[in-house]
Amino acid sequence: MMVKIPKGEINELKIELCDLNFERSKKVNIVLLVISLFLVPLDIINKQKGLWMPGTKYLFCTHILMVLVPLILLLYLYKHKNINTDVKSKQFFIMFFAYFLFLDSTVTSIIDQLIHGEISVFVIGAFLIAVMTNFRPLTSMGLYFINYLVFIIGITFVQKNREILSGHYINGTILVLVAWFLSIVLYNIKVKDFLSKITIERQKCELESTNLQLTATNQKLQESLLALDESQNIIFTLALALESKDSYSSGHSERVADYAVEIAKYLNLSEEDQLNINRASILHDIGKIGIPDAILNKPSALDHEEWAIMKSHPERGEAICSKLNFAKEILPIIRYHHEHYDGKGYPDALSGEKIPFLARLVSIADTVDAITSSRPYRSAGTFEKACSELQKGSGTQFDPVLVEAFVNLYNNNSTKLNSIRSQVCLS
Ligand SMILES: [Fe+2]
Repeated sequence: MMVKIPKGEINELKIELCDLNFERSKKVNIVLLVISLFLVPLDIINKQKGLWMPGTKYLFCTHILMVLVPLILLLYLYKHKNINTDVKSKQFFIMFFAYFLFLDSTVTSIIDQLIHGEISVFVIGAFLIAVMTNFRPLTSMGLYFINYLVFIIGITFVQKNREILSGHYINGTILVLVAWFLSIVLYNIKVKDFLSKITIERQKCELESTNLQLTATNQKLQESLLALDESQNIIFTLALALESKDSYSSGHSERVADYAVEIAKYLNLSEEDQLNINRASILHDIGKIGIPDAILNKPSALDHEEWAIMKSHPERGEAICSKLNFAKEILPIIRYHHEHYDGKGYPDALSGEKIPFLARLVSIADTVDAITSSRPYRSAGTFEKACSELQKGSGTQFDPVLVEAFVNLYNNNSTKLNSIRSQVCLS
């Protein structure tokens, strides 16, 4: 039945219960004073009318006490102006008032044996204590036990009717036990409320702390993304700037990217693959930045040495992009975009499935743009020509599956491919 209180929470619970009991005791003290201020003049008027019965004078004394003690307690509060921060003074006030209230009702019921023979004031006192205070079970047991003893001894001496006395013994005992039980139940409810409140407050604090951490992490992430965007922008701008040196290759990377992404969409590749294909296509020839212009723009055929330098651009591109965090995934695409399906490509002469799939795909897009773009020595070819060239190289230079995919894509959606070519070529 008892609620277990964690060690760390005991002090906080004590303070909360002390505050609650103190506020309630103060209010009941004032109510008691107001009631007594009516009772005392009423007693005096009754005496003047000759209505006093045997025992009324003792009752009058309790009424006087009910005026004096609350007044003394109010004076105590006035004297202890800092009582709100003084737990011991508050506890003294609470215990003193509880014992006085209960004892006064007990004594009133004992005196009442001389007048009406009732124990109702004692019962009211017992239940008022249960409702008004949230004492620990042991504390309230002491309070109930002392008053019960006083009550039993008192009525034994005062009540002369044995039958009434037996009834009071039984009723008084049962009602005191019920009142004590009620006080324990109310105390446990209060403790449970307190623990729930503490748990909710703790969870709220944890949530707020987590929220703050998430906000800070999010901010850092945003900053990192901005930095990443910046580094990406720089390298992409560099790649495009490289192409602008030669009007014939201008827009090549962007068109390769658009063709490659269209093929990826046609093959239902993931969003991540599409993103990597787009980035790799833009950067696939970035290694040409290290190739002399004399070789890049040579109108005639390259000699053996020049061709060797030209063929180093995939490795140069991989080396440049290896320093960039965002480009880790696309390094194989950059390095292997000139490999051939039959193993006669460069730089590593990989063949078939050993060539990364996305590199094989970019190779197709690269070739399509090379055929459909104009050169100093020839005009731009059509997509039909590109399809025909791809089919000729299927299984030797190109992956047959990807050749078929591109041809099907063109047959199904030539408008889209034409729009890529015309838009970017014009730009
Ligand atoms: Fe290339």
